[in-house]
Amino acid sequence: MKKVKISQRMTKPNFPADFLATILEANADPTVINLGGGMPNVHSFPVKAMEAAADKVMKKRGVMALQYSNAKGYAPLRDFIAERYRQRGIDVDISEIIITNGSQQALDIFSAVMIDPGDNVIVENPSYFAALQVFHLYDPVIVPINLNKDGIDVAQLEEKIAETSPQFVYMIPNFQNPTGITYSDKVREEAAEVLQKSNAIVLEDNPYEALRFEGRAGKSFSCYLGEQCCMLGTFSKTVSPGMRIGWIACKQKDIYDKMVTCKSAMDMHTNMFGQMVMYQYLKDNNFDEQIAETCKLYKHNAEFMLACIKKYFPEGAHVHKPEGGMFMWVTLPEGVRGIDVQAAAIKKGVAVIPGDPFYEYERNVNTIRLNFASFSDKIIDKGVRILGEVIRDLLHK
Ligand SMILES: Cc1ncc(COP(=O)(O)O)c(C=O)c1O
Repeated sequence: MKKVKISQRMTKPNFPADFLATILEANADPTVINLGGGMPNVHSFPVKAMEAAADKVMKKRGVMALQYSNAKGYAPLRDFIAERYRQRGIDVDISEIIITNGSQQALDIFSAVMIDPGDNVIVENPSYFAALQVFHLYDPVIVPINLNKDGIDVAQLEEKIAETSPQFVYMIPNFQNPTGITYSDKVREEAAEVLQKSNAIVLEDNPYEALRFEGRAGKSFSCYLGEQCCMLGTFSKTVSPGMRIGWIACKQKDIYDKMVTCKSAMDMHTNMFGQMVMYQYLKDNNFDEQIAETCKLYKHNAEFMLACIKKYFPEGAHVHKPEGGMFMWVTLPEGVRGIDVQAAAIKKGVAVIPGDPFYEYERNVNTIRLNFASFSDKIIDKGVRILGEVIRDLLHK
């Protein structure tokens, strides 16, 4: 085989390992209980209704669905998204929306527009590992800020903003991935006050917001910061991740225009058929009712998993109880590394994701992320029981 030169971007020593591929691979093996991935529960997928929507689109607007379209996305879908924001008291116009290939692509587009090599980017510590991965494509310096139980550490945020003048601050204020933490009103207000005094854009990533099964929704940073905040959303966790439809809501005109150009350069536009089917589905069905059903299921699953953790995990293991979303973050007893739990558990047919990839710098941490959303009680019980045994074994080594 010929010798090829791979770009420095992909081969730099601190480029994050591809945990996403590992997770998706584990998911392809039906014998593995995959508590590691971010897969929604398949029972939440509206298969029949999507089939009807696809049929309708093809019959009524087949030519439009099969033709090239524009980079901003399908206008009725953009309008639907803007209207949903307004219903929640967030001022968004259709002209501020771009439809993307999942919010993962939105992260990519935003990064391409905002990051020059060496720019500082503030993230929560820990943060969504595939966001860290995509940021790294553009060679920034990642500046992590600790997360407390009620959100980002505001004092540290203030200090690091002053020290590093970041291009942007990436936050997941609702049911954060990986920790499940939700920011309190107080933290939102205080963080917004600090951010207002800076030039940093806030990139608010909000894929789980609709999946609240306890408590009350807090305000978006956009309500405090207006055009200083760029919001990301997705239908992946409420309708279907396979459809790959997400969006960016951006009021800042210069950033918005450059992101449209960038989207156009990357892939011209998001799959038109998919966008039209998604819109048709949303138009013909009661979306809120479907979300409520999913929330009911996830509330049950979260409570059941918590009970199993209590029953099977050894003393010294702690778990954060989320108010929504899909994830639970477990702190293992002192001295038990997440990577060792991962390695031992997979041999017994259970996949988990260790804390390591969610951190920019820390390694060998004593945390793991569990997905409570995807499974039946029976599978959750079995998976958590096996994990409990693995952790006990490691503790006694
Ligand atoms: C915080 C966060 N952002 C973005 C994404 C990407 O979602 P998608 O590209 O499926 O919309 C995910 C998926 O798990 C996520 O957890």
